[in-house]
Amino acid sequence: MESKRIAAERAVEYVKDGMIVGLGTGSTAYWAIQKIGQRVKEGLNIHAIATSAASEELAQECGIPLLSFADIDTIDVTIDGADEVDSHWNLTKGGGGALLREKIVASASKELIIIVDESKIVEQLGAFPLPVEIIPFGYEMTIKKLQKLGAEPVLRKTGDHVYKTDNGNYIADCRFGQIANPNELNQALNLITGVVDNGLFVEMATHVIVGYMDGSVRELSLS
Ligand code: A5P
Repeated sequence: MESKRIAAERAVEYVKDGMIVGLGTGSTAYWAIQKIGQRVKEGLNIHAIATSAASEELAQECGIPLLSFADIDTIDVTIDGADEVDSHWNLTKGGGGALLREKIVASASKELIIIVDESKIVEQLGAFPLPVEIIPFGYEMTIKKLQKLGAEPVLRKTGDHVYKTDNGNYIADCRFGQIANPNELNQALNLITGVVDNGLFVEMATHVIVGYMDGSVRELSLS
């Protein structure tokens, strides 16, 4: 947890007065929201937009003023976690189920700062099953189409119930093996009728900050 916290706190140094800030979702973004809340209490003047109901609730508890998309044209910086980060900074996201709102917020952001612990850094994506958000109607058919694309989809469940996203949709966690071409797969998935979006974030991250077990934190640079 410490490595997640230090990465998150380094990222919050990018947040400046007057900014509109996207708040990510998950156990790493949690620390960023906490730190932003602390800085707001100390006088930082920002507004934020959250990527999930859980992050919105946390932001409210932390006293961070929130906006909706109706109030803004762009987001200055978004700070969010990831499940995997490859050597080109392509990401797998959605382990926490918030991939759609995360992608909407990320795509409206000038900067996307990804905060991870060292376990998330990989050469190629694919060890973590790719979350795909699908519409409940006809989901059995959508899952068959995902299989035809080469996936081994598993419908996400919470106990005995099918998991539902904040948008009322389902998630199919899809094992594709190593993902050699994330861009191609991202496009192919999103062409399937019934798929809303998927957890591949291709060429969206502008910064990657990694926290290490030894207590150090490093901002990566693209080679
Ligand atoms: C939420 O849906 C995800 O995209 C998270 O950003 C991702 O799963 C990372 O989560 P942790 O920071 O909890 O590992």
